[in-house]
Amino acid sequence: MPDYSLSEHQVWGTLYSRMRPEWERYANPHFLQGLDSLCFAPDRIPQLTEVNQFLSPLTGFSAREVAGYVPAFQFFDSLRRREFPTTVTIRGAGQLDYLPEPDIFHDIAGHVPMHTDPAFAEALVRFGECAHRAAEIRDPVRLANIVKGMARFFWFTVEFGLMESQGGWKAYGSGLLSSHGELAHAIRSPQVQRFPFQVEWVINQSFAIDRYQPLLFTVRNFEELYDLVGQLDRWMQQGKLDHIAPGEPGIREEDLQSFLDAGR
Ligand SMILES: [Fe+2]
Repeated sequence: MPDYSLSEHQVWGTLYSRMRPEWERYANPHFLQGLDSLCFAPDRIPQLTEVNQFLSPLTGFSAREVAGYVPAFQFFDSLRRREFPTTVTIRGAGQLDYLPEPDIFHDIAGHVPMHTDPAFAEALVRFGECAHRAAEIRDPVRLANIVKGMARFFWFTVEFGLMESQGGWKAYGSGLLSSHGELAHAIRSPQVQRFPFQVEWVINQSFAIDRYQPLLFTVRNFEELYDLVGQLDRWMQQGKLDHIAPGEPGIREEDLQSFLDAGR
């Protein structure tokens, strides 16, 4: 891991102290429990070895340092092996509010607390298994549609998912949980549409990454999420993801190639 400067630790501290009260209000209880289990210091970027000491006994997951972009197949296949590819760089002090690429705050404070929850962890592994099966498909056009459908499913669950709960909606998606501003907006704003998750809708729904999401999908619990991933996997095998609605996200050549190479 990098030798972080004092100002980098301060960026973590600022992000953490701004999010803490927001999490108390708007994060789902499994995330809050995960935060407790992981024992982050509020004012210092954690070492991954420390994180994994608390995380791995709970679900077998671990955070693994990566340098730069991880192609889609390798990313999803890591989840199958209960490894989470983790960015270790941190955003600059001038970019506290919006960052197009993940950083260690997004990955460790946004994603990893969810990996302490056994039911959520099982859903992630199942997603990885789905990606592993997708790599058996040799037709690049079919595969491009499947990868797009999977990316949309992942976006509207792991990154931007909401959960119904007694106190109203709560976030479990890490894009929301690591964003000061969007988290409250996602839960409270009348400008956001929120609908129960439907696979047939989500795989055909495009999205833009550079604005607050106007449309979010809800699940009741992570057992339901696990079943939904199962449905995605079955539909893929039945060919129902071969021709989905065009639009965002665009699929990078190297992401598509990573699936084709894996299937060789
Ligand atoms: Fe993410």
